[in-house]
Amino acid sequence: MDKIRITGGQRLEGVIPISGAKNAALPLMIASLLTDETLTLTNVPRLSDVTALSRILSNHGVDRTVAGRRIGQSAETGQTISLTARQIVDTCAPYELVSTMRASFWVIAPILARMGEAKVSLPGGCAIGTRPVDLLLMALERLGAEIAIENGYALARAPQGLKGAEIVFPKVTVGGTHTALMAAVLAKGTTVIENAAREPEVTDLAACLTKMGAKIEGAGTSRIVVEGVARLGGAHHAVLPDRIETGTYAMAVAMTGGDVELQGARLDLLQAAFDVLVRSGTEVSATADGVRVRRNGGGIAPVDVETEPFPGFPTDLQAQFMALMTVAQGTSRIRETIFENRFMHVQELARLGARIRLDGDVAIVEGVPKLTGAPVMATDLRASVSLVIGGLAAQGDTTINRVYHLDRGFEALEAKLTRCGAIVERISG
Ligand code: UD1
Repeated sequence: MDKIRITGGQRLEGVIPISGAKNAALPLMIASLLTDETLTLTNVPRLSDVTALSRILSNHGVDRTVAGRRIGQSAETGQTISLTARQIVDTCAPYELVSTMRASFWVIAPILARMGEAKVSLPGGCAIGTRPVDLLLMALERLGAEIAIENGYALARAPQGLKGAEIVFPKVTVGGTHTALMAAVLAKGTTVIENAAREPEVTDLAACLTKMGAKIEGAGTSRIVVEGVARLGGAHHAVLPDRIETGTYAMAVAMTGGDVELQGARLDLLQAAFDVLVRSGTEVSATADGVRVRRNGGGIAPVDVETEPFPGFPTDLQAQFMALMTVAQGTSRIRETIFENRFMHVQELARLGARIRLDGDVAIVEGVPKLTGAPVMATDLRASVSLVIGGLAAQGDTTINRVYHLDRGFEALEAKLTRCGAIVERISG
């Protein structure tokens, strides 16, 4: 298993290109199942989750072509992937394929909508507490599907097709909203989704579905109205920039000090996190090309944060922000409200010398003057990158084991950091 070794203490200076968003690319790829025409996606990040989903889609009969590199494109320029689901040859998504990535469960919606039946293994994914799919199945039931759970699989049937209905989510769910959207676009009649997720990735999926011929209003608000259509066609769509990758590198700059332009990043996708960074003493400004993040001289001020659905502070940046707060000049409180058990990075950050106490869903972080390098273990995607940030600021060497978690969600991490002056090395093993 590969490891990453970081020699900490370097300021980050330069430019980091921001990749396409993993959490947008995955539902967009899944949307290709809704049409027999070709969906071409540009700016798709090179990530192991994308590869895993490609494998799942090809099992259903989706043809995939990946465009070669063009003049002027670097190895990190996002990929262009064309997906064609001319015929869905298999309505079952098996355990062996689905268990590695939770989002792959979402294939249930387009397969059901197009074929009248789907059988999908209950998902795996990051070990961050119980992550049920009851609300996704509720949405499909509201649209007229019959659902059964058998032998670890969800079976959904709607032989007469899906019918528009009102879906009221009792809590905000990104996956639930993606699922409801993808099912409703081919349902007969009108669907109203109440308490919908407002995440930019939902808006991006809705924008792509609209290009494919869907009739959707209100994406980006908590009430989405979908007028079902008989069929969808092909489209071209560029995946939006990754706001979590953006926030992660912004926190790394805040922690190590330095001056970095996050090329392609958008302030509006991450206002809550940038506001918090500014309060911590970091300068954030829009540039013609992206966002510039700087921290010179002054120390890091402690800031209390609570994770919330968009537009609040994202749970996917909670671990990274905690890393930053470990060296703040005072005590901060970080409350996790989206996922239980999303504090597995705490004990690993403690190995670097952080002082963190847990009290239910709150982490109380007492800033220390400096962290010191140590061997640590990556436990999930976002937790592992918080250890990278910690390692970048720590004195001495930090070795991060089990980096396959990082490869799921961060494209060219070592290359991007090394170019800005960090000392990061992957050790194959
Ligand atoms: C997505 C993101 C993930 C992010 C999360 C919250 C992708 C691929 N993943 O995950 O990175 O951390 O949004 O922003 O886009 N819930 C239920 N029942 C359900 C579904 C969800 O109780 O059927 C709960 C979850 O346990 C959690 C909350 O709802 O407490 C939000 O989860 P959800 O928004 O669905 O997360 P994902 O879509 O899995």
